[in-house]
Amino acid sequence: MIRVEHVTVVFGGVRPLDGLDAELHAPICGLIGPNGAGKTTLLNVLSGFVHPAQGRVWLDELDLTHLSPVQRMRAGLRRTFQQEQVVDDLTTYENIMAIADHIPLDRARRRTEVDGALALTGLGERASWPGRRLNLFDRRMVEIAKTLIGAPKLILMDEPAAGLNEAETERLRALLLRIPSASGAQLILIDHDADLIAALCEETLVLDFGKRVALGPTRTVLADPTVRQAYLGEPGAAC
Ligand SMILES: Nc1ncnc2c1ncn2[C@@H]1O[C@H](COP(=O)(O)OP(=O)(O)OP(=O)(O)O)[C@@H](O)[C@H]1O
Ligand SMILES: [Mg+2]
Repeated sequence: MIRVEHVTVVFGGVRPLDGLDAELHAPICGLIGPNGAGKTTLLNVLSGFVHPAQGRVWLDELDLTHLSPVQRMRAGLRRTFQQEQVVDDLTTYENIMAIADHIPLDRARRRTEVDGALALTGLGERASWPGRRLNLFDRRMVEIAKTLIGAPKLILMDEPAAGLNEAETERLRALLLRIPSASGAQLILIDHDADLIAALCEETLVLDFGKRVALGPTRTVLADPTVRQAYLGEPGAAC
């Protein structure tokens, strides 16, 4: 469970998050909103890369607010970025293994977990390929595989489907659905594809101008006229 209490972020004159309160409980939660709504900023606040001017963030009973990104990682928090962080000169296996540098895990368990993550993401046959040989989809899979190492509790993904074709998005969707049961982690997912969010997420938070527009069951949220107006660009009255 993730809880955000009155979080405000200030960058100069901009407030990417403005007094945001939210609690997300479902195994897979969606985070949507128009460009510039504050979605990535919220992920940055949760993962410790941006410090809020005001407010607190909690992972279950743990107050994350003053923890560093590495401390949060040790507490079970993982994230992917809008740009994949794959090192071209390391193999797929080494890229995934590298995250274990930040997590206390003995060698045998590291190997077992990396093998498990390779299998789940379908990267097993490309384990020894250098990062530079991997296509966009496989690079995305490496990013996801890294989040599965070391008993994650919360995995944050920023637009994992961006740039993927329909078949790849379908493979991604099937993988994401398996993540809570396979890893035990809650998954919070940013995406602009409302169909993907509807297919995966029981609960969805909608942001606009750094504020909460809606939060609740995804089906209800996506049918809300205010959401359709803010997010889908539809006139409110027409819905
Ligand atoms: N480091 C920064 N310095 C100044 N302004 C920033 C910074 N990062 C984000 N912003 C501003 O904060 C607002 C929210 O940005 P954010 O990246 O969180 O939006 P987003 O919802 O992820 O958008 P997108 O869908 O385009 O990825 C935007 O107005 C953006 O320009
Ligand atoms: Mg973003």
